[in-house]
Amino acid sequence: MLSLNHFAVQKLAALEAKNQCRRLVDTERTAAMALSVAGGPSLISFTDNDYLGLSTHPDVVEAARDAAARYGAGAGASRLVTGNHPLYAALEAKIAAIKGTEDACVFGSGYLANVGIIPTLVGKDDLILADELVHTCIHAGMQLSRARVLTFRHNDVAHATELMARERGNHGRALIVVDGVYSMDGDIAPLKDLGELALAHDAWLMNDDAHALGTIGGGRGSAHATGAEGLVPLQMGTLSKGVGAYGGYLAASKPVIDLMKTRARSFIYTTGLPPAAVGAALKALELIESDAEMVARPVKLARTFASAMGLPTPETPIVPLVIGTETDALAASARLADEGFKVIAFRPPTVPEGTSRLRFSFSASHRDEDVARLIEVATKLGLNR
Ligand SMILES: Cc1ncc(COP(=O)(O)O)c(C=O)c1O
Repeated sequence: MLSLNHFAVQKLAALEAKNQCRRLVDTERTAAMALSVAGGPSLISFTDNDYLGLSTHPDVVEAARDAAARYGAGAGASRLVTGNHPLYAALEAKIAAIKGTEDACVFGSGYLANVGIIPTLVGKDDLILADELVHTCIHAGMQLSRARVLTFRHNDVAHATELMARERGNHGRALIVVDGVYSMDGDIAPLKDLGELALAHDAWLMNDDAHALGTIGGGRGSAHATGAEGLVPLQMGTLSKGVGAYGGYLAASKPVIDLMKTRARSFIYTTGLPPAAVGAALKALELIESDAEMVARPVKLARTFASAMGLPTPETPIVPLVIGTETDALAASARLADEGFKVIAFRPPTVPEGTSRLRFSFSASHRDEDVARLIEVATKLGLNR
């Protein structure tokens, strides 16, 4: 056998032995979080990041269609070449207005944003302090930057303060990086305290609001939810979750955004987004701005569920239920599927060893009766605490 195939086969077998292999299944999503998997029965998903159901909202779908009809299916080139169709300017102005910043810059995805932003701001003589649970694409960006990376214990401002006091003087520029909302735990970063720490040490605070835009802070994200407006000069996020479309962004001051557009490699050397994604995101953000009830609903539903299950009160639409082993988490997920619910089991390396879990995520488009039945079924399966 080719050594390449031999390597792949061995690696897969090792992962399989740990129940850590991942497999794609064809999934057809329709409205109200209904989906069918590979021709199977229809399930209600409590696993999507489509927190407002906007990916299937008729106005958003129509905006995507209109944008494709007017500007084509693809952007044709990088934004700096000919791919900068006019919808981009409107979308960036809308993001900056929602985030309360001077300007914004749209990237191809949240992943591309993080691998572009971080190396544009810090390099090998600089320092990054990161929460130990930041998303994997932040790790990718940090590695690319070649800066010194120190991680602090999850949401532990005292630990971050200790590291800052010890190491700041040995480095040029300094960045503190956190997720605004942690996707596997559903908790929020202590942005006010971290923002004050950053200010005191001439460091720059960056939040990744992938799970916060459209869901907390009246839809404006984690800086607004925590009263840290003005303390987070770098607000990054994605247009693929609460916004229901695709793309990533940075909201920041005008000079920072100008620098991104001229230096961030993952902005420059990649094709612009399909116009349909940009048109859809713009329409979705208009809905987020105008419909406070829709924005409040996912957290409200998450709280109803958590209270019935005896779990801590969530601040976000994410409710983790830690099971333990990979096998038990997969079994619980399969039992929920038998009862008509899609709830993915998250396993290492996505979560720490021994903390495999069901992660329930709530959407404005869930019906009250779906949540009531989920509570009934989860209780019957003994998942309540
Ligand atoms: C915290 C966080 N940051 C970034 C990303 C990447 O965003 P995108 O899916 O737009 O690449 C994700 C999700 O996948 C995420 O959960």
